[in-house]
Amino acid sequence: MNKKSVNPFSCPSPLIAHRGASALAPENTLAAFRKAHAIGAKWVEFDVMLAACGEAVVMHDETLDRTTNGSGRVIDYPYSILKTFDAGSWFDPVFSSEKIPTLAEVLMLLCELNLGANIEIKPAEGIEEDTVKKVLSVLDQHWCGNNQPLLISSFSRTVLETVRQYSATHHLGFLMHDWEPDWQTFCDALNCVAVDISHPVLSAERVREVKATHRLLLSYTVDDPVIARRLFDWGVDAVFSNCSPGMAVFL
Ligand code: G3P
Ligand code: MG
Repeated sequence: MNKKSVNPFSCPSPLIAHRGASALAPENTLAAFRKAHAIGAKWVEFDVMLAACGEAVVMHDETLDRTTNGSGRVIDYPYSILKTFDAGSWFDPVFSSEKIPTLAEVLMLLCELNLGANIEIKPAEGIEEDTVKKVLSVLDQHWCGNNQPLLISSFSRTVLETVRQYSATHHLGFLMHDWEPDWQTFCDALNCVAVDISHPVLSAERVREVKATHRLLLSYTVDDPVIARRLFDWGVDAVFSNCSPGMAVFL
């Protein structure tokens, strides 16, 4: 985007519920997205990868061990098995009925709740193209159209390039855990509307550099209101937050 560009993606709110309201309910479960809605979030971030059968599932880690009572790699199980695992008790036994949701289930819930989405694609290595094709196909079938904002993001350049290869219209966000000096060339080539950056690597100068390109600047993961205020003062548009109680002021 250049100096005359108008960003076609409008930021619904300065707070994006990260993996749903993941300080208040188990991350990336339907309960976490319902909780985000209940506390007043306007949009949510979540992570997507493929199960062994090719189903797109909403899950952060490549392995089941931290957030479910299963063990091993997500990609090694068909969804018929993944859906039998308890994805809530690790957080609190009251959530023991939570399952790993499919992307379709999450999209349908967000449409019902009128929430926007930031879909972060986290492919297993080597199946980037299959993952992107599946995500785009589920979006075609289950996303509710233009009513709510939809951003597709990834740390994987291959993923973003593949989304753009198959879709000229989806809004893209480039995730950077470290500052990547060629970010602008990459984002220009794909017409990314957003850059999503880990907050410790940001500075006022870097924020100015990104904002000069008229892109949204989103920063993760922020649960300290003092840090959030500093980022907003620099010009950051929104922060990914687990929605710890102190962050409610930004909802
Ligand atoms: O999209 C922001 C953030 O979710 C990226 O990191 O590891 O929490 O998915 P991670
Ligand atoms: Mg994520």
